[in-house]
Amino acid sequence: EKIERFRATLLSWYDIEKRTLPWRISNDPYRIWVSEIMLQQTRVDTVIPYYLNFMEQFPTIKDLSQAHEDKLLKAWEGLGYYSRVRNMQKAAKQIMTDYEGEMPRDPKEIIKLSGIGPYTAGAIASMAFDLPEPAVDGNVMRVVSRLFEIEVDIAKPASRKIFEAVMREIIDPYKPGDFNQAFMDLGSSICTPKNYHPELSPIKEFNASYINETWANYPVKSKK
Ligand code: ADE
Repeated sequence: EKIERFRATLLSWYDIEKRTLPWRISNDPYRIWVSEIMLQQTRVDTVIPYYLNFMEQFPTIKDLSQAHEDKLLKAWEGLGYYSRVRNMQKAAKQIMTDYEGEMPRDPKEIIKLSGIGPYTAGAIASMAFDLPEPAVDGNVMRVVSRLFEIEVDIAKPASRKIFEAVMREIIDPYKPGDFNQAFMDLGSSICTPKNYHPELSPIKEFNASYINETWANYPVKSKK
């Protein structure tokens, strides 16, 4: 079936081409959480040294929950958007009191934590707990809109739900974390905003906008 061929093609490309990133080495939900928060407003290359330092200083949720504010802010210096790390500590305290220090597995619980929205909850649920949850950010919306010629405006906040519904339909049930990260890697390597070359894509044979030669029209994105 086509969906199975699509998943197999994407995942074998990911297995070969995936970047070796420090947060991809374990399934620890805490490590994945920290990386996803750092990556929200900061590029991968910049994040790596901050991430390694942060993990050394605050290796567990308990350590983060008990950290002194000055030490925490110092570790974040240069990343900016300090509310991100303040919210993480708040969430770490919530996890200590409400979940015995363990990240909850249920995405409905994860999303209740301070600073965790649908994207981060989906990333944690899929990568740490192997749950078939989408993790849709702007990059994933761009990839999906080109793949299926989706006309919805990715600049509108309400559009994310539409892309999440599409990802729920296609996500690999056995390797949801790799599947989501394969979309992220496509979005940062081949399926970029500029200089897009769909003929170089490992999934070009499944790409509707490549087949129909309409790819220059996607994603639909209004100016804010
Ligand atoms: N950007 C956000 N999350 C990422 C991840 N897990 N891997 C690579 N790039 C990312």
